[in-house]
Amino acid sequence: MFTKEIYINRRKQLASSIGSGILLFLGNEESPMNFKDNAYHFRQDSTFLYYFGIQEPHLAAVMDLDEDKTIVFGDEMSLDDIVWMGRQETLHEKCTASGVEFVQASASLKSYLANALAKTRQVHFLPPYRGENKIRLASVLHLPINQLAAAASIVFIKAVVAQRSIKSAEEIQELHHAASVSADIHLMVMQLAKPGQTERDLVAAIQQAAVASGGQLAYPAIVTTRGEILHNHYYGNTLKEGQLVLNDSGVETALGYAGDLTRTFPVSKKFTVEQKAVYDIVLEAYQQATSLLSPEVRYLDVHLKACKTLATGLKDMGLMKGNIDDAVEQGAHAMFFQCGTGHMMGLDVHDMEDLGEAYVGYTETLTKNTAQFGLKSLRLGKQLEPGYVLTVEPGIYFIPELMDQWGASNRFNDYINYDKLQAFRDFSGIRVEDDFLITSTGHEMLGKPLALTTAEIEAIRAEAY
Ligand code: GLY
Ligand code: MN
Ligand code: MN
Repeated sequence: MFTKEIYINRRKQLASSIGSGILLFLGNEESPMNFKDNAYHFRQDSTFLYYFGIQEPHLAAVMDLDEDKTIVFGDEMSLDDIVWMGRQETLHEKCTASGVEFVQASASLKSYLANALAKTRQVHFLPPYRGENKIRLASVLHLPINQLAAAASIVFIKAVVAQRSIKSAEEIQELHHAASVSADIHLMVMQLAKPGQTERDLVAAIQQAAVASGGQLAYPAIVTTRGEILHNHYYGNTLKEGQLVLNDSGVETALGYAGDLTRTFPVSKKFTVEQKAVYDIVLEAYQQATSLLSPEVRYLDVHLKACKTLATGLKDMGLMKGNIDDAVEQGAHAMFFQCGTGHMMGLDVHDMEDLGEAYVGYTETLTKNTAQFGLKSLRLGKQLEPGYVLTVEPGIYFIPELMDQWGASNRFNDYINYDKLQAFRDFSGIRVEDDFLITSTGHEMLGKPLALTTAEIEAIRAEAY
């Protein structure tokens, strides 16, 4: 945990931005894999973690803003719990470390809220994303489960998003650490990958290193020779000479902060001429997009810059044609780049995605308001502010099914050179991703630098086997 003053001050700031009513926070429950006592790794809800810092299941908390009182609802370990899991810090001790004075039994939450509702007091809650918490909320608030999302408090969401979006010094330190450990792991993978290994050999090494660092993975690693599959979680392919490996993996620190890096490297010691050409286009898009990162710039414009840079490079290769501004405006580049250039990052790898993209990535004046393939997947569009932490992750992905579908309907025939594209059916995909902090004057990359250019990557691969 951070010091208790940090949690007290975060709650104070939240209280003063909302003013009155009751704020309800639900921590996460254990999540069983196949039976109750065999649970997945426990992960606390990020907003609960942000305001209370306590990493244990089955907690809730309320902040009564009118009475200026914060209560954590939870239970101390029973003797049975102690027999099975050993004596741990008590809930009272954890609450003291979080600066919370009042602790009540978990069962009393229901009557506490019933009492508040009877007095027609406003109970603010955030949109639940786990089944257990949907059931719990529905039960304590007497609302049908399918009405919970619509009844979530917009003022609470907005206040949390405003606060969590601006990373404080202690959070930036954690995020630097997450990115540095992730960079070490990426370097290790580039050094150890060899033809004949399977993707899961690399995933095993990544997981081992993440756990050994004192944290864990921030999301299931994407480690694949089929880099065109954006969130590929299949690890059974064997690495062969001539292929590319796309490694998108990052650690979460013990305090819950994420890193999210991607590198793409050749299984062989060198990139082929074609791989290098495509890589250099992606790298140029990464550099152009990164150079724009500063306060008051809209991330939408960072994204469009990346798209235009990719499209220009693809035109130079003969895979796109025509006017690039028009091509990107109409979405033709999404044949090659189907997703967004980046997203906010913090306690969640896609930070606060549970609170709603309309609040986290956009504003009332800049709404997403598009169904365009590609642009509809951009999670962040709004103007940047000092303290934001985000990713830049352009890529080029050759997806045979997309080529076939668009090609059959002559879609974007003026901008895509379908004849030349056929030679790239088995190319796979390339992505480069780093994490950045927006500063008052521009930006700063998080974590230690990691090999980025094809020359830097080849220098590491030359020693690998
Ligand atoms: N690791 C998932 C992403 O890059 O968004
Ligand atoms: Mn990412
Ligand atoms: Mn990633």
